Amino acid sequence: MRLSGKVGLVTGGASGIGASTAKAFADEGAKVVIADIQDAMSERLVRELREGGADAIYFHLDVTDEDNWRRAVDAALAAFGRLDVLVNNAGIGGRRDSGGSELDNWNQVMAVNATGPFLGVKAVLEPMKKIGGGSVINISSIYGIVGPTLDPHLPPTDAIAGAYNASKGSIRLLSKAAALQLSKYNIRVNSVHPGFIDTPLTARAFSYPETKEHLRRLHPIGRLGKPEDVANAVLYLASDEASFVTGAELVVDGGYTAQ
Ligand SMILES: NC(=O)c1ccc[n+]([C@@H]2O[C@H](COP(=O)([O-])OP(=O)(O)OC[C@H]3O[C@@H](n4cnc5c(N)ncnc54)[C@H](O)[C@@H]3O)[C@@H](O)[C@H]2O)c1
Repeated sequence: MRLSGKVGLVTGGASGIGASTAKAFADEGAKVVIADIQDAMSERLVRELREGGADAIYFHLDVTDEDNWRRAVDAALAAFGRLDVLVNNAGIGGRRDSGGSELDNWNQVMAVNATGPFLGVKAVLEPMKKIGGGSVINISSIYGIVGPTLDPHLPPTDAIAGAYNASKGSIRLLSKAAALQLSKYNIRVNSVHPGFIDTPLTARAFSYPETKEHLRRLHPIGRLGKPEDVANAVLYLASDEASFVTGAELVVDGGYTAQ
């Protein structure tokens, strides 16, 4: 029961890494708020967590909308009376094939992956101050540290597609800036940097066997990641075991960025 008595809000909690994190939190005694835009999947997960004996609610939150953030945090406080942990996990990929312009793509990716976590930190500040501290965990990526892997199986393109890297690099340093500024309130802010993890986000890339094998080989540990690999890292940062850890970047990538 490493999170006993704590309340955690997980954005993008319906799917993949967020869903696995929500389950890990519930298993360790936390009350959980799933915040996402996928209503049916989120409600199914809340039912599953409740059947397992946990306290959980769902709130429809589009992380790009500041007013929506205010209402989500109010709902968490109304349900559980406090908010100890925020996991800024909601994210989208590069959408290079969305049909929109490069600028549309850039704006959309930055809105969800960079502005979303910024609004999240802003929204939880007062409730965390009130209870004497908290933990914010921002899910960045290896692509917040290094540039993208070019898939040798895709035709070369000159389209500038750095939005995902820019957004993930942005929350890496948002985390450090916020960690410094908020340490006086005992609010810790850290970033997590997963390698390639098997979730709906990577399903399309992994559906091409050659691409999947190419990506697997980039992880020296010899396999691709599972959502639980990341959830365990988030769990540590959420818990009091990490009470001296702030402004840190926890890389969970099977050695990808060590090369
Ligand atoms: N899967 C990987 O290989 C990998 C690697 C590094 C980092 N990440 C990051 O991990 C996080 C989770 O990704 P995942 O792989 O579990 O993907 P996923 O697609 O399974 O989950 C992302 C979730 O975010 C939600 N979401 C999207 N836009 C939203 C919005 N505007 N407001 C609220 N929720 C929104 C989706 O509905 C979905 O439930 C993302 O930030 C992603 O960039 C993933």
